Amino acid sequence: MKNGERLDKIVANMGYGSRKDVKKHIKNGRVKVNNEIIRNNELKINPEKDIIHFDDIQVNYRKFIYLMMNKPQGLVSSTDDSRSKTVVDIIDNKYKVFKPFPVGRLDKDTEGLLIISNDGKMAHELLSPRKKVNKKYYVEVDNYIEDEHINIFSEGITLDDGYKTLPSQLEVVNSSIISRVYLTIQEGKFHQVKRMFDTIGMKVIYLKRVSMGDLNLDKTLEPGEYRELTEYEINVLRNS
Ligand code: URA
Repeated sequence: MKNGERLDKIVANMGYGSRKDVKKHIKNGRVKVNNEIIRNNELKINPEKDIIHFDDIQVNYRKFIYLMMNKPQGLVSSTDDSRSKTVVDIIDNKYKVFKPFPVGRLDKDTEGLLIISNDGKMAHELLSPRKKVNKKYYVEVDNYIEDEHINIFSEGITLDDGYKTLPSQLEVVNSSIISRVYLTIQEGKFHQVKRMFDTIGMKVIYLKRVSMGDLNLDKTLEPGEYRELTEYEINVLRNS
């Protein structure tokens, strides 16, 4: 096949070992394509059509991966960065081969829900301003939150550059010298949450994203941990 992908690459992508391991497995006759043992690593195949077996067990090809990370502070949300460690740096090689990228950005000092995937279409849908996907943040700020702040946020707030945000929902957990709130916004402007609180004279001292659309951060994930999304969660995300 002319336009396929190399057999060793595909089998390695499916988690059957490094490219080097897989080459050995192929040479040793452990891999079949369309029921025929293939010992040529370079054979180009179409993983969506050709049927691959490894030790006589069918290999389920997948094109996309979807990871949910509880992003820790200190990592940047990009695929590579000359100065800082990125969220992609800490994921396993078996996922890196899919060339995943973070779906949207969280600041270096922000924690919480970050989707890492190689599905560009899904990323575009989730991030498109047109879609108005809700993003909910847990926020700690350095002052008392009053009812008037809830109203100001619900009406949309004019940021330092003159941009007026869409209406947002502020839920107060407690109002104190350090207040704890949840803020739900539908956009993703640069440093948006911090800038919204700046406008009312408050500084964000802790920020964590807890949901995106109808997908919630798995509470069992510690900062820096990640896992694959379930089929159900992928659908939730697609329908958000
Ligand atoms: N708003 C911010 O200010 N920072 C983030 O990381 C996300 C939203």
